[in-house]
Amino acid sequence: MNHETGADCQGCPLITDRRDFVRSASAFAIAAISSGFPIRSASAKVIASAIGGKTLLSYPVPPADGAEIDRENDVILVRYRNEAFAFNLACPHQNTALRWNESVMRFQCPRHHSQYQPDGEFINGRATRNMDRLAIRRDAANNIVIDPDTLYRSDEDAAQWNAAVVKL
Ligand code: FES
Repeated sequence: MNHETGADCQGCPLITDRRDFVRSASAFAIAAISSGFPIRSASAKVIASAIGGKTLLSYPVPPADGAEIDRENDVILVRYRNEAFAFNLACPHQNTALRWNESVMRFQCPRHHSQYQPDGEFINGRATRNMDRLAIRRDAANNIVIDPDTLYRSDEDAAQWNAAVVKL
């Protein structure tokens, strides 16, 4: 396996721009990305914001620490140490779909093997920034609401990136 050239990763799934993602207003899916990386199942629903009809995603608060990956919307929802975070599924290096390794509580990129903490902080690998966070809040019904079209990069907007967290 050659981690430097990425030659071991032909066929790794690539993600295009978030605006290209297909979203359904009625069907929701949470799926494991690969065997060996168990993903806790969950459900989400698509809601429309009262402001501008924006598409928002609503999820129950995860019951325990770990990651839930919503492949349909290319969103990762994490609960970790009494905080919740939402991330773009794409690795910030070259947009490969990230994987969650429950056994070590880390995200791992299958393409060039960058690793990230549960809060999205970059650990090592080819990436040059943290995972990209999505706008997140908790609503009055105690659901986590995510705006999949509002993305914060840690290298361009550190303040917004740091603030994109829900205290549980
Ligand atoms: S795509 Fe290169 S480290 Fe993820």
